[in-house]
Amino acid sequence: DSLMRMKPRKKGFKFHPIAPTDKDDLVLPKGYQYEVIASYGDVINKKGDTFGFNNDFTMYFPIDKSSEHGLLWVNHEYTNPLYVEGEKVNGKYTPAQIEKMLYNQGGSIIEVKVKNGKWMLDTNSAYARRVTGLTPFALTGPAKGTAAVNGATSAQGTFANCSGGRTPWNTVLSCEENYEDTSKAANLDQTHYGWVIEVDPFDPNFKVRKHTALGRFNHENASVGISNDGRVVVYMGDDKKDACVYKFVSKGKYAAAKGKDNSKLLEEGTLYAADLANGKWLPLTIEAVREKAAGKADLLEKFKTQGDVVVNAHDAAILLGATPTDRPEDVEISPLDGTVFIAHTNNDKHGNIHGHITRFFEKDEDHGAESFEFEIFAAGGRQSGFSAPDNLTFDSNANLWTVTDISSSKLNSGAWTSFGNNGMFMIPTIGRDKGEAFQFASAPKEAELTGPSFTPNEKTLFLSVQHPGEETEDKANPTSTWPQVRGGNTPRPSVVAITGFKF
Ligand code: FEO
Ligand code: CA
Ligand code: CA
Ligand code: CA
Repeated sequence: DSLMRMKPRKKGFKFHPIAPTDKDDLVLPKGYQYEVIASYGDVINKKGDTFGFNNDFTMYFPIDKSSEHGLLWVNHEYTNPLYVEGEKVNGKYTPAQIEKMLYNQGGSIIEVKVKNGKWMLDTNSAYARRVTGLTPFALTGPAKGTAAVNGATSAQGTFANCSGGRTPWNTVLSCEENYEDTSKAANLDQTHYGWVIEVDPFDPNFKVRKHTALGRFNHENASVGISNDGRVVVYMGDDKKDACVYKFVSKGKYAAAKGKDNSKLLEEGTLYAADLANGKWLPLTIEAVREKAAGKADLLEKFKTQGDVVVNAHDAAILLGATPTDRPEDVEISPLDGTVFIAHTNNDKHGNIHGHITRFFEKDEDHGAESFEFEIFAAGGRQSGFSAPDNLTFDSNANLWTVTDISSSKLNSGAWTSFGNNGMFMIPTIGRDKGEAFQFASAPKEAELTGPSFTPNEKTLFLSVQHPGEETEDKANPTSTWPQVRGGNTPRPSVVAITGFKF
C-alpha cells in the first residue's frame, strides 16, 4: 500500500516471461491461470443490477483482512454502441439509449470469494451495487456552488471512469477521464464532469462525492500518500497530449482515528502542477493566476475565483509555467522509497510513439515537498519490449507492473508489429534487473489490460480485460471471441482473477 515504506521481503515473483503474441486469449506464463469473475451484463446482486461495460481500474478491498474474500471496485469507462446502446436514431440517441449508456458507465462493487479453490462472484452479496451515470453526487471543495459550475452543489452521475486509487481511510477514488462524449450525448453540463470521485465500497450511506479541490481535467488516476508532516497528498495524471502532472496537498492532517471523516481533507488544500524544467511544484492559486494574467482582460474574466482555477486547471497550470508532457496516465508511489512513477503513454505530436515511465524524486523524500528531481526510468520501444505504458501498480518487492495500451487500430502493424497484442510487464525498480521489462501477460485481440490489483498476500492478481474485439464492425463476425462465456462468440469486457504466483 502506498502508505508503507518497506524493505523487499521476498526474492520476487518467479515466472518465465512470455513472448509477444497476437493470440486471441489472455496468455500467461506456464503455471499461471485465470478465471473470468465478471463480464459485461452479468447480474451482480439480488436486486438484479448488472455489471457495466468496458471494465477498467479494479481495486481489491479485503473483508476481515482476507486475501480470499473481499469486494472489488471496478470502473466502467465507456460504452460501445455495437454492444450497449445501439446506433443513433435519426442522428440522435433516444432517452432509453442515453439511460443505457449512463447505466453501463461508472463503477461496480462486487463481492468475490474463493470457494472450492476457485474465485467466484457472490451474487447474494449484501454489498454489491452499482454507481452509475444516473447516481446523484455531491460536489465538494472550492468550485461547489460557484458560477464556475453554474451554481451546482450536486451533479448527476459519474462516467468515463478510467483509473483510480485507494485512500488511507479505505474508500476508493475513481477518475473521470474522457467525459466529453457522454456528457454531450446525454446533454449534461460539462462542468460537472472531469473530477475525482470518492465512494465507500462498504457503505451505501456514504454520500458519493466529487472533490473539486483536486482539479477538473481528463483524470487518469489518483495515487495517495502522506507528507512528512501528516497531510494527505494525491498525485494525478491528465491523459491528454501536452498535459501536466498534478498533486493535491491537503490543508489538514490525516488522523487514522477519524476514519471516513478524513474524506474532508480532500475538500481543502493546494493543487500543484509540475514544472519539470525547474523541478518545482507550482501552486495553482487564484492569486498566482491573476498575477500572471495581469493586463489580459480575457484571462482576468476567465479566472475570478478558485472555483474557476480548479474548473480550468490545465489552462491555469500552463499559464503558470507548468510543463506540458506526453500524456501522463497512471502515477504510482513506490512502497520502497516513496519515489513517484508516471506512465507517459505516448505523444505522436512529438514522435514519442512508444512512451516512457518517468520517476520523480521529491525533495527530502517528502510528498509535501515543493521541489523535486526526475529521470526517465524506462523507455518503451523494441529494446524494452513494451509500448504505450498505461496503468501501474507495485508489489511489495518494489517491482513495478505496467499494462500497455497500444491503440487497437495500430496493434500488430507498422512500428508496433514486434509487440504483438497489448500486455502486462513486470519491471524491477531495484537490484540487478532494475529497469528491465519482463512480459507476464498478453491480452486477447484488440483488448487492453487495465487496473491491475493484487490481494494482500499477492497470490491473486485481479485484472480487467477491456474492449476485446474493439474494431468489430459486424457483430456476426467479431474480431475477438474472448472470453467465450454464456455460450456465445460475443467479445465481452471481463474482470479475471489470475492465480499461480510463486515466490
Ligand atoms: Fe482511459 Fe488514459 O486511459
Ligand atoms: Ca487508462
Ligand atoms: Ca491509455
Ligand atoms: Ca484506453
